Amino acid sequence: MHIIKLNATDSTNSYLRRYIAKNKVEDYTVVLAKKQTNGRGQMGTVWSSETSKNLTFSMFKDLSVHYVEFPFYISMAISLSILKALKSLNIPDLKIKWPNDILSENKKICGILIENVIKNKLESTIIGIGVNVNQTKFNGLPKAASLKNITGVHYDLDEVLHRIISCTKEYSTLLQNGDYDAVKKEYEYNLFRKDKPSTFKDTKGNMFSGFVKGVTKYGKLMITLEDGVVKKFDLKEIEILY
Ligand code: BTN
Repeated sequence: MHIIKLNATDSTNSYLRRYIAKNKVEDYTVVLAKKQTNGRGQMGTVWSSETSKNLTFSMFKDLSVHYVEFPFYISMAISLSILKALKSLNIPDLKIKWPNDILSENKKICGILIENVIKNKLESTIIGIGVNVNQTKFNGLPKAASLKNITGVHYDLDEVLHRIISCTKEYSTLLQNGDYDAVKKEYEYNLFRKDKPSTFKDTKGNMFSGFVKGVTKYGKLMITLEDGVVKKFDLKEIEILY
């Protein structure tokens, strides 16, 4: 396995995309940066991370041989990989906040940005992962925390990285073997607010109540509303508040 270690880059996802355009790259090649000057989050947000304190990396996975019909399964498999890796480090109360924020004790400790490389069909994927490991101050981000905030332990970044990579390989093999249902079931089991009375906010800022029931293979969130009707929502349509 090849790990490209950088002191700084704009975004490891962007670096890896440029790199694969010029080089033949093997599966699980990782680009790791101590610092990103343009770290990117989901839906055009910014991902900030204190230099050298956390993990900011991107991983390559070729999908041309084992084609995945529904890319959301990759997202589910990656969330589960991180969950398993962090569980092995005894990080408590881990949940996946749909679609793929990783929470511990209701605080976001990890974000995932998956960017697919599509030519005529889905060719490969760039899996960007930001784990808050040893940073302790998150000014202006009350819902964020690090592993160190949660447990008081200072972690070796390489150790956390290698645990995540190894779990990623495990879950990729599940997908390659066609165990889609197992991945979806485990993902749904670990969802934040699953089967609990919850509050959501739509794009207009309206709040509504319901129960998180699961996801569709397209990655939509299924919510049972108070009147018993099940509705499906896209990522851009709602946010789970609590
Ligand atoms: C999110 O929660 O909004 C997703 C955050 C993803 C951040 C990681 S850090 C490494 C990789 N490079 C980026 O620019 N973004 C991802």
